[in-house]
Amino acid sequence: MCGIMGYVGREVAWDVVVSGLRRLEYRGYDSAGVVTVSEKGLHLARRVGHLAALQEAFPAGLPGKVGIGHTRWATHGGVTEENCHPHADLRDRIAIVHNGIIDNVEALRAELVAAGAKFRSETDTEVLAELIGRGVDKGLSLRDAVVGAMKRVEGTAGLVAVDKKDAERLVVARIGSPVVIGLGEGGSYVASDALALRPYTDRMVVLDEGEVAEITATGIKTVDLEQRSREKRIEKILHQADDADLGDFPHFMLKEIHEQPAALDRSMRGRLDAVVGSARLGGLQQHEQRLFDIRQVVFFACGTSLYSAQVGAYLMSRYARVPAQAEDAAELAVKNPIVDRHTLYIGISQSGETADTLSALREIKLRGGLVAGITNVVGSSLSRETDLGTYVHAGPEISVCSTKAFTAQVLATELLALRFARTRDLSATDGRAWVAGLEALSGQMRLMLEHAETCKKLALRFADARFTLFVGRGANVPVAAEGALKLKEIAYVPAEGLSGAAMKHGPLALIDHGSPVWALVPPDETRERMLGNLRELKARGAIIMAVAAADDAETKSIVDYVIPLPPHHPAVSPILNAVPLQLYAYHVALAKGYNIDKPRNLAKSVTVM
Ligand code: AGP
Repeated sequence: MCGIMGYVGREVAWDVVVSGLRRLEYRGYDSAGVVTVSEKGLHLARRVGHLAALQEAFPAGLPGKVGIGHTRWATHGGVTEENCHPHADLRDRIAIVHNGIIDNVEALRAELVAAGAKFRSETDTEVLAELIGRGVDKGLSLRDAVVGAMKRVEGTAGLVAVDKKDAERLVVARIGSPVVIGLGEGGSYVASDALALRPYTDRMVVLDEGEVAEITATGIKTVDLEQRSREKRIEKILHQADDADLGDFPHFMLKEIHEQPAALDRSMRGRLDAVVGSARLGGLQQHEQRLFDIRQVVFFACGTSLYSAQVGAYLMSRYARVPAQAEDAAELAVKNPIVDRHTLYIGISQSGETADTLSALREIKLRGGLVAGITNVVGSSLSRETDLGTYVHAGPEISVCSTKAFTAQVLATELLALRFARTRDLSATDGRAWVAGLEALSGQMRLMLEHAETCKKLALRFADARFTLFVGRGANVPVAAEGALKLKEIAYVPAEGLSGAAMKHGPLALIDHGSPVWALVPPDETRERMLGNLRELKARGAIIMAVAAADDAETKSIVDYVIPLPPHHPAVSPILNAVPLQLYAYHVALAKGYNIDKPRNLAKSVTVM
């Protein structure tokens, strides 16, 4: 949720930590802080607001060659300077930054208060800092004190600690929340996300669950919570073409919308078999035999990823004729799921770190279920903890508002549905037609992007609308919901996305003269019924913006505006339909002057439940 960066080495720690935090700021941005260690002790800088506010307040930075920093997304305690990380123990000897939530914080706090502690903040992190500080006071090394504290903690923690009496060392620990360590020339780095390490090194070590590492400028030493030494593998950080720089774009969201054709091509590379009319997904190949026995598919995910899962479930049942459903991972995890040996469970998560999705995954695995993962982040927890899976290769997604990951995730489910379909009912001819449809997809996506100006005009016309409705049918119901989510998330406009059929069961009452409605009307089996739904909306005064085939005269005669769809394979319409809705939300938010890449109250990756 929050961003963590740490450094020990030859450079000025402040510079490295702040520049790393800048790359991670999308993960949380309601406050920021850094602590460094020099021969004079701890130096602390914290500010409410974006990282820029911290830099403005400390133009000369802080001294020292060891430092840790944090950008926060508040969970425990309000957005105040006292609650900002880093937090020190009550004698200001050690300081920590922390991602995650300590579930047993009240018990630990009460124990420490009874022993005389007077806390300065409302955070669980300060309680953790005090636990570690008391260990160090008793003569333990920082590493041993962190191990001792981690053994007492219930919940999640990715943490980095420094000791004012040791300007050569960082200690890092992981329970639940991810931490990666970068090994550079003359310095070592720690971050909550490998994205922050890329400018410095391409060699990293990923800390596993229940590990604690001591890091110096020249290396790391890792132990588990029983103090047994752990051998760690050095992995390569993959540098991808679409990196975390804005280039010529004003916002990451717009950049990422425009990266979609390239992302789709990358996601498909080497995965289509035009001769057989099928798809191959590397991570699934070694389990092919088991896939024949699968009788049901259950996707699970949250937010935008849940909508991609819903499209996937539709495609799986429609084309592969395999019963499929998509579950909200947050609910699945707590509803005592019935896990079946002939079901394939598929978790989808852009970040691969969403706590609710990981929690569902662990619950299913615990019950012996076969779990696959679809994620964008190489080396993420989802990729490490699933039995099989595939990367979507959309490239780093920085904007909190997911766009290119959504379409790449839908594409991954298409490939999976195609693979399943070809082992079941789908003929070679139909498989080849689908493959041809996928091969043409990025070109069609480019055509959709050419309508950016029209989407902008529509956004300017309806920017002040009280409410906006999105309707679709079939595989495009989740796309309508995704369109509504975009608008809520970055433009703060109340919006709903649902089936056109659901309108007359209640939501039609919301429609008044001039109500803006987006309608997804691809030329497939859903079109006829959709037109009926649009006539009902029109009769109540709605102004309808439709995404429909360029030559669909009947739709044109009913609606007010049309964004034309190029001819395409029916299975890919959800991917094409998403584009105008993304552009529309972007331009409404722009017209309203909101912070598009960092919407209020949100963070990119939700690592708390
Ligand atoms: C999308 O725009 C949102 N920011 C959010 O719904 C997101 O999709 C959700 O939190 C799940 O994230 P994940 O894909 O990283 O698991």
